[in-house]
Amino acid sequence: MASRLSPLRTLPRLASLTRNAPATSSASSLARPLLASQQIRGYKKAPQPMRDVMTGEIIQIPDIDASSLQIQNTQSPKTRLPNSKLIFGKTFTDHMLTIPWSSASGWGTPIIKPYGPLELDPSSTVFHYAFTLFEGMKAYRQEDGTVRLFRPDMNMARMNRSAARIALPTFDGEALTELIKKLVVLDSEWIPQEKGYSLYIRPTLIGTQNALGVGPSSDALLFVICSPVGPYYASGFKPVQLLATTKFVRAAPGGTGGYKLGANYAPGVVPQAEAAKEGYSQNLWLYGEDHALTEVGTMNLFAAFKKPDGSVELVTPPLGDMILPGVVRDSALRLAQDHADGKEVLPGLPEKLVVTERKLIMADLVEAEKNGTLFEVFGTGTAAIVSAVDKIGYEGRDIAIPTGPEGLGPIAKGILDRLVAIQTGEIDHPWSVIASEGKA
Ligand code: COI
Repeated sequence: MASRLSPLRTLPRLASLTRNAPATSSASSLARPLLASQQIRGYKKAPQPMRDVMTGEIIQIPDIDASSLQIQNTQSPKTRLPNSKLIFGKTFTDHMLTIPWSSASGWGTPIIKPYGPLELDPSSTVFHYAFTLFEGMKAYRQEDGTVRLFRPDMNMARMNRSAARIALPTFDGEALTELIKKLVVLDSEWIPQEKGYSLYIRPTLIGTQNALGVGPSSDALLFVICSPVGPYYASGFKPVQLLATTKFVRAAPGGTGGYKLGANYAPGVVPQAEAAKEGYSQNLWLYGEDHALTEVGTMNLFAAFKKPDGSVELVTPPLGDMILPGVVRDSALRLAQDHADGKEVLPGLPEKLVVTERKLIMADLVEAEKNGTLFEVFGTGTAAIVSAVDKIGYEGRDIAIPTGPEGLGPIAKGILDRLVAIQTGEIDHPWSVIASEGKA
């Protein structure tokens, strides 16, 4: 079988890397115009061939080749925990996927093998300069055994953007999706079926060059591990409380907040611990002198306001350097916009809804609380899906946010219910991609 080919990547060619994210192929993305949120560099563009800077020749080395997969089955399957004992990201399935890469020979043989430690040289660049990025995806299993992934094309596109940002190799997202399907199907017994549970999939790419010089890594390793999960927060699906912080910033213009890099997460742990000491579960990350709202903990942020004409405005900050292009963020925006346009009504959402991606500042929230026009606030992310916020600590006092009887406001609940129905296959939808068909 001939190898798939991808561009060779070396330092002088870095300028081309941001053009190298793959096109996506979901029916929904073909059928609709791009939202402003998707019109970001490299997010939906077709791959561009890379050329040698001196000769102009197209340079090709092997891309990920799903057909060359080798599978080594575990000889000692682990005992699975009951759902009630699962803590987010603490239990892992029997197998993992690894794919090595080097600048000289491109992507190597994908191997699914028993889950276990990686052996890396202590000088590996991942340990010193944070050459690491990841994705969060979920798989769901229906009663008949059908296994589904949710919008994997979005994760693959984002993973390629992140890779290009830190000079790690890009790859064919469809080939990696095929391999992830194989891994998930092999470990499908691990996918919990109870409502609110799923298999969290963690594709990760690290730089493995053994060298302390700071530069592009000549070697890399892509691996995928899977973890059966329930609710992300220890509080289950209850609302979260936020401490709006100006003491720390998560992201800044020109920085990497819009990419899913490991380096964006460790610096959030101390601020979160400080928030916890004051009785809040997460940080509400603010930016700038006007205290613009950016993200909530590790999630994207939405807020809704009642308007004088009787409509409700659903707002989320626009994408850019400071906002991660979340898959659930994009899905929530599309579902809400379809509701607003009367294309697909979401039960519980206000009849007159306006959906906007615009800057939001703390003064907007303070004012809305005072006027009684604050409708709801929630976060979205792969791990928690949708998480309501009922309190924001800001400048020494708490802003109270309305939530519905089940701890979720009407917009958050309408979006969550529809997303879960799509993810679990209760509703047929192009976003839900079948990894393997169950018995009819
Ligand atoms: C997500 O919800 O998308 C996340 O990335 C959360 C993860 C950092 C645990």
